[in-house]
Amino acid sequence: PFDIKVASSGKVIRVAADQTVVQALAAEGVEVMTSCEQGVCGTCITRVLEGECDHRDLYFTDEEKARHDQFTPCCSRAKSSVLVLDL
Ligand code: FES
Repeated sequence: PFDIKVASSGKVIRVAADQTVVQALAAEGVEVMTSCEQGVCGTCITRVLEGECDHRDLYFTDEEKARHDQFTPCCSRAKSSVLVLDL
């Protein structure tokens, strides 16, 4: 598990092991648009302000992934204990 911090509200949301980031956000009323939910389409791309992503998508290049400034919350997770999202 890890935490997501919503930058606009300061709200911290725990993401359980059996939950996606999108699901955890939705449970707290923060909606992220999705389509494929498999890391292919890029619909859910969200800016990451702080933290290290555990990228699990097929959308970004390795170079883009290494920047840790955006990720696909439908399937990707966090390597750091907290990810601050530009939401
Ligand atoms: Fe398609 Fe996340 S919904 S990449």
